[in-house]
Amino acid sequence: MTTLSDLPELSPVRSAPRPLGSPWPASARPGRDGDLTLGGVSLREAAERFGTPLYVLDEDEVRRRARAYRRALPHADVLYAAKAFLCTAMAEWIAAEGLGLDVCSAGELSLAAAAGFPPERILLHGNAKTPEELRLARRLRVGRIVIDNLAEVPRLAALTAADTPQRVLVRVLPGVAAGHHSAVRTGVDGQKFGFSIAAGEAAEVIRRILAQPGLRLTGLHCHLGSQITDTAPYLTALDRLVDLLALIRDRHGVELPELDLGGGHGVRYLPDDPELAPERFAAEITTRLAARCAENGLAVPKLTIEPGRAIAAPAAVAVYRVLSVKHTADGHAFAAVDGGMSDNPRPALYGSAYTVRLLGRPGTAPTRPFDVVGRHCEAGDILARNTPLPTDLRPGDLLTTPTAGAYHLSMSSTYNLTGRPPVATVHAGHLRLLIRRETLTDLHTREVGH
Ligand code: LLP
Repeated sequence: MTTLSDLPELSPVRSAPRPLGSPWPASARPGRDGDLTLGGVSLREAAERFGTPLYVLDEDEVRRRARAYRRALPHADVLYAAKAFLCTAMAEWIAAEGLGLDVCSAGELSLAAAAGFPPERILLHGNAKTPEELRLARRLRVGRIVIDNLAEVPRLAALTAADTPQRVLVRVLPGVAAGHHSAVRTGVDGQKFGFSIAAGEAAEVIRRILAQPGLRLTGLHCHLGSQITDTAPYLTALDRLVDLLALIRDRHGVELPELDLGGGHGVRYLPDDPELAPERFAAEITTRLAARCAENGLAVPKLTIEPGRAIAAPAAVAVYRVLSVKHTADGHAFAAVDGGMSDNPRPALYGSAYTVRLLGRPGTAPTRPFDVVGRHCEAGDILARNTPLPTDLRPGDLLTTPTAGAYHLSMSSTYNLTGRPPVATVHAGHLRLLIRRETLTDLHTREVGH
């Protein structure tokens, strides 16, 4: 019989580092000496290899989030909103996960086409598409185009023929205000997008589209706003859109087979922020859609959704290097980093808040509130206000912020003639560059006059 004393002495078990948890990507782990790993890759090493500011995108996080939407809504069309962030690799991952793509410009459309994205899975929208964009969309045979103004009806009809009609949706305004900032609330009357349901504009454009043999109206589209964390606005919008479907049936004798509820699903920027989980959204929306259609005697239309932020934002982190630390006489502490409003305009535009973490050395000192500021020539160039960081923060330190994958680089600029940062990706312990840093030469090459 084996007794306890016969057993060989066990070496102490080294437990694997625990995930950092939301808002960090699921693969984020504390590394050695204050480092942080993403997809098994050291962020400190990534910063050394590619310099700062740097964006690091976790491929698995993008795919996992895309998959979660497909699983939650297996009968719906899930289109990734390219405006959140698009590059060739992203288009490839999204295509491979079986999603479609929502684009709003010739730039996004042509990049997707060059990446080999299946055109029938692409939807083009926008409040003011140029004639060239409409022509490109037709030439590339995109699946659907969302009509957003009256001029587009004859313009698009002129590019089509009755034997190769274009599937179109109409963007309507359900009169629902939702979203984190007035600048992104697009579901109400009195702003530039869509056609008012209440004022009868939607009914009028539908009449005109139905009169065009080259346009095949397949459904209604709306986009309420962005960073919405509750399902209530979607449910109200859904009711109003289904009622409009019934009106169209009664008036024109056609039942439109598609309903597009746009994007806008909110994510966590701070650890305690609420978020809109795909599962909750899916359960509540599909139940309500079935019920409202039954009340109206309509067949349930195919649902389309267009999440952008919810797929891309939590998948990337930004890494900056501290250039200076300033303690002012009035007790403020500023950490100035080598990026700013040119790579992340969101705090300056919307007052958005971010989590910040020291990277690359153990932060053993007590913390105090810092304003993390950029290097641009505006006092409003503040990346994070009152964020706790070690009191011994010093030039040369690295800082990282999560939730950096959406609406940073896609809205970045070359303000003060600074080049835009590179994007690297991590997957299975490997790090590779997707987009290189914009150089001073890049910035000067468009100069053709003197
Ligand atoms: N579909 C349409 C028609 C849209 O206009 C948008 C976003 C989306 C889908 C995707 O929305 P998401 O799921 O990403 O919220 N720059 C702002 C957000 C602007 C969103 C514009 N439209 C921000 O950084 O908060």
